[in-house]
Amino acid sequence: MKTVVLILTTLIRISNGALSFRDAAPLTVGGIVNTTSGPVQGIPSDSRPEVSTYLGIPYAQPPVGDLRFAAPVAVAASSAVINATAFSPDCLCNRIPTNEAYLAGPAGARVLVALAQTGDVLAEDCLTLNVWTKPQTGEAKKAVLFWIYGGGFSTGNTACPLYDGAVLADENDVVVISVNYRLNIFGFSGAPGQTTNVGLLDQRLALEWARDNVEAFGGDPSRITAFGQSAGGASVDYISYGFVDDPIVHALIPQSGVANSVISGGATSASVLSNWYNASETLGCGGEEAGEATVACMRTKSWQDILVAIEPLSTTAIDSGFEPVPDDIIIPNNLTARGAAGEFAKLPYLTGNTDNEAGFFLVVLIAYTSLTAEQFDLIPAEILQPVVDLLTLAGFTCSAAQAANYRAQNGVPVWRYRYYGGNYTNTYINKVGSAYHTSELPVLFGTAASVAGIADSDIEAEAARYMRQAWATFAKNPTEGLTTELGWPRFNPLSKCHSTWEYFWPWSNASLRCSKFTGTTVSRPGNDCKLYSQSPDRCSMLRGPIFRIPPY
Ligand SMILES: *[C@@H]1O[C@H](CO)[C@@H](O)[C@H](O)[C@H]1NC(C)=O
Ligand SMILES: *[C@@H]1O[C@H](CO)[C@@H](O)[C@H](O)[C@H]1NC(C)=O
Ligand SMILES: *[C@@H]1O[C@H](CO)[C@@H](O)[C@H](O)[C@H]1NC(C)=O
Ligand SMILES: *[C@@H]1O[C@H](CO)[C@@H](O)[C@H](O)[C@H]1NC(C)=O
Ligand SMILES: *[C@@H]1O[C@H](CO)[C@@H](O)[C@H](O)[C@H]1NC(C)=O
Ligand SMILES: *[C@@H]1O[C@H](CO)[C@@H](O)[C@H](O)[C@H]1NC(C)=O
Repeated sequence: MKTVVLILTTLIRISNGALSFRDAAPLTVGGIVNTTSGPVQGIPSDSRPEVSTYLGIPYAQPPVGDLRFAAPVAVAASSAVINATAFSPDCLCNRIPTNEAYLAGPAGARVLVALAQTGDVLAEDCLTLNVWTKPQTGEAKKAVLFWIYGGGFSTGNTACPLYDGAVLADENDVVVISVNYRLNIFGFSGAPGQTTNVGLLDQRLALEWARDNVEAFGGDPSRITAFGQSAGGASVDYISYGFVDDPIVHALIPQSGVANSVISGGATSASVLSNWYNASETLGCGGEEAGEATVACMRTKSWQDILVAIEPLSTTAIDSGFEPVPDDIIIPNNLTARGAAGEFAKLPYLTGNTDNEAGFFLVVLIAYTSLTAEQFDLIPAEILQPVVDLLTLAGFTCSAAQAANYRAQNGVPVWRYRYYGGNYTNTYINKVGSAYHTSELPVLFGTAASVAGIADSDIEAEAARYMRQAWATFAKNPTEGLTTELGWPRFNPLSKCHSTWEYFWPWSNASLRCSKFTGTTVSRPGNDCKLYSQSPDRCSMLRGPIFRIPPY
């Protein structure tokens, strides 16, 4: 009798699942899942065939016509099955030239080509997201990692092969979602009379989509953690300031970028508005004297012409001159005051940066010069290193410290890491050194080997597993998982320098842990320690007018 009941119950479950795929994980890998956008047909991941992949799911109406430069509008549910088997085009952007990629060694060219979106299709209709999940095993409702890419709010895409979520979903029992959001003038137009920061509202709409739909993919909507890097890291942190009462997420991982990075001292409403009028004038829509009339006119221009018009306003493609500005809605006008007063969503926080952030920006700058490989080789690395160190400190380490301090001072669980990486062959880009900005991402996502075409060394593979485990542990149990399961003490801003280092991934004992994961001993901990031991106030002086680094 019992057996019969069991079989019947199972049959009912299965048939319920088949009749209404709502709230049920996909029954076959890549099988159809119903969502608020409509039913979506996925595909097994190329690299991890047990992982269901849903790519290019629209979450907003195409931001074209009157919706160009405007806040996003949720898409109506499609009654037809949506083909979610390939990434959508990237959101519109100018790209970093890669004609100098030969400076970068065998793996470097491939890494840089991927980051520069070389060869990608661009389209205005780009507001899509992607899901990776393996509901066949593990928790019935899995923790969710919601990825926001970087690129200075001016470039970036989910289709970048560095950000494939399959390995995390396959090995760490999490659902991964990544979101495309509008960039540069299309996301941060600063246009008169328009909603500000619509690119951030794109991210928010996608997060609402995740909340409403992730259960159908085997995810737990009450355990979504936002993670992002660079501009994506700042975006993650903006959630805590812009959506204090309803952040949707339960934890935050801003990597190499926080709300109080130089970014908040960079673009202003005035600078972006001035750039807007420059572009509108260039395109024959009139300048400041035309005021709001410029907007309707700019909506009639082709996106190709707009990208050409904004190009002269950028320093490099990743700093377009159109970026988020304080609006006191999402981004506070006075972030220092809000941070110190604890006026933010008090979500568990894991933040940090790489040891050599600035190395990457040198590579970007070189791409804009006419230096030959030979000329570049003649520049002694010893000359560059102190400048690079200072830029890393001023641009990233200090702001991360400050963001972590706001949390610690307000009783929020917070952990910090510093990514040292190794001089891994498949992430090496050139002599600007390892652990450059972005270098932790192919390791975290487990994509270094596929992007570079060079297998991970054993040390790298182990470091990568550890890093994924840390991120997933935090996502699953953000209030204490890192401490109870991995032994990371919470960040304590009052610690002396050397014990502070113990809070930085992957170290509990600097030299020991570092050599374990990099294969080399770290030669500069003394210097870095000395710099870090300077107070956050000193750091903010460094971030002031003297070193105004573009907000990447
Ligand atoms: C699919 O989801 C939509 C929105 O949640 C819902 O209205 C619809 O009834 C669902 N369809 C099925 C077949 O479950
Ligand atoms: C779905 O999209 C893929 C990639 O664009 C294409 O190869 C495939 O034919 C499409 N499938 C259907 C049923 O349209
Ligand atoms: C726009 O700005 C660029 C770069 O500063 C400048 O060269 C150009 O003259 C400006 N165009 C207009 C129409 O103001
Ligand atoms: C921001 O707030 C801080 C702390 O309350 C204050 O010292 C500072 O003057 C404020 N900055 C601005 C620009 O108002
Ligand atoms: C890092 O690796 C590259 C290429 O694999 C090599 O040329 C370079 O000498 C290494 N640098 C250091 C400091 O080990
Ligand atoms: C760290 O490792 C070194 C080298 O093995 C050892 O001498 C030192 O005592 C360790 N420090 C701590 C705090 O464990």
